[in-house]
Amino acid sequence: MSFYIAGTGSALPEKVISNDDLAQFLDTSDEWIYTRTGIRRRHVLTHERLDDLAIQSAKTALEDAKITGEELDLILCATMRGDTYTPSLACVIGEAVGAHAPAFDVNAACVGVLYCMEVADAFISSKKAKNVLIVAAEAMSKLVDWTDRATCVLFGDGTGAMVVRAGEGRLSGVLSTNPDSKVIRMPNIEGLNSPYNCVEQEKLAIYMDGGEVYKFAVNAMGKNIEQVCERAGLTPADVDWYLPHQANVRIIDASLKKFHIDKSKALLNISECGNMSATSLMVLLDEYAKKGTFRPGDKLLLVAFGAGLTSGAVLVEWKKASVG
Ligand code: ACO
Repeated sequence: MSFYIAGTGSALPEKVISNDDLAQFLDTSDEWIYTRTGIRRRHVLTHERLDDLAIQSAKTALEDAKITGEELDLILCATMRGDTYTPSLACVIGEAVGAHAPAFDVNAACVGVLYCMEVADAFISSKKAKNVLIVAAEAMSKLVDWTDRATCVLFGDGTGAMVVRAGEGRLSGVLSTNPDSKVIRMPNIEGLNSPYNCVEQEKLAIYMDGGEVYKFAVNAMGKNIEQVCERAGLTPADVDWYLPHQANVRIIDASLKKFHIDKSKALLNISECGNMSATSLMVLLDEYAKKGTFRPGDKLLLVAFGAGLTSGAVLVEWKKASVG
């Protein structure tokens, strides 16, 4: 016994920034960004709090799954940082939806949702939980250096959620880490306030070795696709829909090419949202679920890579009745 996806939700900030908007204050262009990454626009937090959007996503997913917060047995939140270090964002969401379940955040960067899905599987298959809420929330605009054209153009803000319930649906999963703390790195502000701290503060912004990330991502996503299919007794051709982490269209294309996978099976929203780290997969899933793209019995493969360097894939059969 594992889980099936019973409901989804998402909430994005109102403000949309185009590549042309960025070109107003950076030496860049729509043409450079779009051809290198596939990104046209991204949502950015202005007057909203990340916590509030995450709660909105959670409530929509609960409503979609037709359960209440009180029925939850576990709340997981994939995030690098909520609006407070403590309580965790998962606890903040739990309070807002009226839950009394254990709740904690999971930081696996862009792979966070897949790590949460595998934690949910462990709780459900060991009968410690029946209903699990998984939320993803990232405020990338507060982490990037807005003077660095090589990184700030890649990211966007957003939140999403899913409810998974005990039952048949998850077919297999694989998680891995190839430890490397340099290729993608975002230091925190620990120690700044302490009169005793004498460790020099690193620059507060995302650092990324784009070329190295590219190589790791293509290899890791390819390997994870193969492994997760093998574990389910399937081949990559048996998958109906690929939901890849939305970091870069060129990375997605190169990973799928490895297995001669038809590009039309890969779902995308990167042009409208950029890379929202852990949130990307969740918003993608909700968007295409609400469009009615998935039919009951369809096999969905979610695959991602991120800082750590983490990677993973989860293969699920869609159980919900189709919308639209
Ligand atoms: N606009 C215009 N020029 C730019 C920009 C920009 N926004 N950014 C960089 N450049 C310039 C560079 O300064 C460089 O100029 P130079 O040759 O005069 O030095 C030139 O463009 C080429 O730079 P590269 O970094 O070699 O550009 P590349 O073609 O490799 O593209 C990119 C950069 C898109 C980041 C690429 O390396 C990539 O896709 N990497 C994968 C990383 C990724 O997608 N990460 C996502 C975030 S991490 C995650 O999700 C886990």
